[in-house]
Amino acid sequence: MMLKRVGIIGLGEYLPERVLTNADLEKMVETSDEWITTRTGIKERRLRDKGEAASDLAIRAASSALEDAHLEPRDIDLVIVATITADMPFPSVSSILQGALQIPRAACFDISAACAGFVYAITTAQQFIAGGDYKNALVVGAETLSAVTDWQDRDTCVLFGDGAGAAVVSEVRSGGILSACLGADGSKGSLLMIPAGGSRQPASHQTVDQRGHFIKMQGNKLFKLAVTLMTGAAQDALKKAGLECKDIDLVIPHQANMRIIMAMAKKLNLPQEKIYLNIEKYGNMSSASTATALCEAVKESRVKKGDIVLLDAFGAGLVWGACVIEW
Ligand code: ACO
Repeated sequence: MMLKRVGIIGLGEYLPERVLTNADLEKMVETSDEWITTRTGIKERRLRDKGEAASDLAIRAASSALEDAHLEPRDIDLVIVATITADMPFPSVSSILQGALQIPRAACFDISAACAGFVYAITTAQQFIAGGDYKNALVVGAETLSAVTDWQDRDTCVLFGDGAGAAVVSEVRSGGILSACLGADGSKGSLLMIPAGGSRQPASHQTVDQRGHFIKMQGNKLFKLAVTLMTGAAQDALKKAGLECKDIDLVIPHQANMRIIMAMAKKLNLPQEKIYLNIEKYGNMSSASTATALCEAVKESRVKKGDIVLLDAFGAGLVWGACVIEW
């Protein structure tokens, strides 16, 4: 039983301007627009400018979320950034963001939960605020996946993009976050990883030669797990909220693959019009996917007051998370 009602009071996003289309990729690796479109649903993705880091994207998304919430930086007392592509091992992206936005003294930390990162971060902020010690949290999903994508590997390079989405999480009078279910299965972590660059394999000439600083993925095995785990997370979160699938007005799923999303929707018996998609424009932006999808759904008036919204995500870890929100 939560002590306070907690919800989202502002949203923002930032997508870099540079567009990489499937036609562009056809010139880089042996692939085709037809293969990428039918296997993934992706048509194009955004890429950061050279030298642009996750915090640069986060700052723009966060500023726009603050404006949307009608709050000033000084009103924020907690900053959480979900990212797997931080500017550097430390300081955290949240600390860099806090400094750049001149948010005085707020607590700052990053969350590493890959594509489920934004759902993990929203749920974490909810706990801090419901506990009563914190008032307004700035929650961001920011990724520069193009920096860790192997542009010679057609299995992965067609999938990812860069972007950031942000939310302000605060106490609300009605509605808000009704339930959240987070989980993980660390035994399957090797299915999706960046093997080098940490303490296990610090950067060396050898790790660079072996292309160990790029994403390695067993896509086919992940595909099946993603459908099962995202379906289960949705069911668990709905049950915890005392709701059923028919009560959902809009699902904001992680945008890894259109076929994963549609398979999950079929299992949950949800019609296509209740599923929000932005994968065609942006590809998989890990933690930024659910964050930007929620922001765009609200901007496009696909969500109205009183609606039941389900955030549902899955990613490297393996981790998953679903969250039911009454808007
Ligand atoms: N262009 C053309 N052909 C390709 C490409 C490409 N870009 N990539 C792979 N292929 C080929 C393969 O080589 C294979 O050829 P073969 O049959 O001759 O061996 C064939 O296409 C089929 O390959 P599969 O891997 O079986 O293709 P699949 O239908 O599974 O689609 C994909 C691959 C898109 C990666 C899919 O498996 C997927 O989306 N998996 C889940 C990814 C995911 O959810 N990741 C987790 C989140 S990401 C995060 O946390 C950061």
